[in-house]
Amino acid sequence: MEESHTPPRGSTRPDTSVAHNARVWNHWVGGKDNYEVDQQVGDQVASIMPVIRDIARADREFLGRAVTYLAGERGVRQFLDVGTGLPTADNTHEIAQRIAPGSRIVYVDNDPIVLMHARTLLAGTRDGAIDYIEADVHDPDAILDRAAQTLDFDRPVVVMMLGILNFVLDTEKARGTVRRIMDAVPSGSFLVLTHPTYDAEAGGEDQIPAMEFWNENATPPITARSAEDIAAFLEGLNPVEPGLVSCSRWRARAGSVPVAPQYGAVAVKP
Ligand SMILES: C[S@@+](CC[C@H](N)C(=O)[O-])C[C@H]1O[C@@H](n2cnc3c(N)ncnc32)[C@H](O)[C@@H]1O
Repeated sequence: MEESHTPPRGSTRPDTSVAHNARVWNHWVGGKDNYEVDQQVGDQVASIMPVIRDIARADREFLGRAVTYLAGERGVRQFLDVGTGLPTADNTHEIAQRIAPGSRIVYVDNDPIVLMHARTLLAGTRDGAIDYIEADVHDPDAILDRAAQTLDFDRPVVVMMLGILNFVLDTEKARGTVRRIMDAVPSGSFLVLTHPTYDAEAGGEDQIPAMEFWNENATPPITARSAEDIAAFLEGLNPVEPGLVSCSRWRARAGSVPVAPQYGAVAVKP
């Protein structure tokens, strides 16, 4: 396996005085890589919005189903996972390389604590390749430049943006980021996204007070969006069945699955 780690530019030590998203998300999915401040803020958000832990778990399970589908049924061998988060069970490379050991994966995050755990993300198969890039989703050109060292942009790429566009507060800028990255990948590439919503029909009424609390007490600032705004990120792409739905319901096993106020979709570039 080729392993590489593109050195961070101006990376900083983790700030343990303020709750950070990657660590709080880790707390919500039951991980141990977080500090007291993350647990306190995470628990307070959960008291405003009790389904938040279910959302975090539903999002990770969606990731598992989407990567399994794309590596297994669609035969894609390259993944660009933007807003990776801290390593947990079944990270993108583990699922993809279990199906196809030669899969190539590039992880991108801008949180120093995710960088500290990059070694776990970089341990893959002998045949494949994995890179970790410290970069900001607001700078898609930097992501593409550095990802091109590992991924072949003449062949299909799965662009994963799970729980990350909600940190680009300006909707036009978020659309611009998606467009820039999807323009750089060829036909047959996929966009996979999840995004929180305040839509009542998805059970998102508590998102607004929960996010107001988050924005006053934690970092980085976050926003939820409507199904319409989230669907617009898929413009020019063909959604795979069942389209944009609660991520808990996307190709979920038969039976009654509770709706999570976090939309998910997979779409292919024609
Ligand atoms: C909600 S977590 C999602 C993790 C993973 N994608 C998942 O779905 O389980 C969001 C991740 O995005 C990262 N993040 C937040 N703002 C970012 C930015 N401006 N650039 C790059 N990564 C960012 C955080 O550090 C965190 O790891």
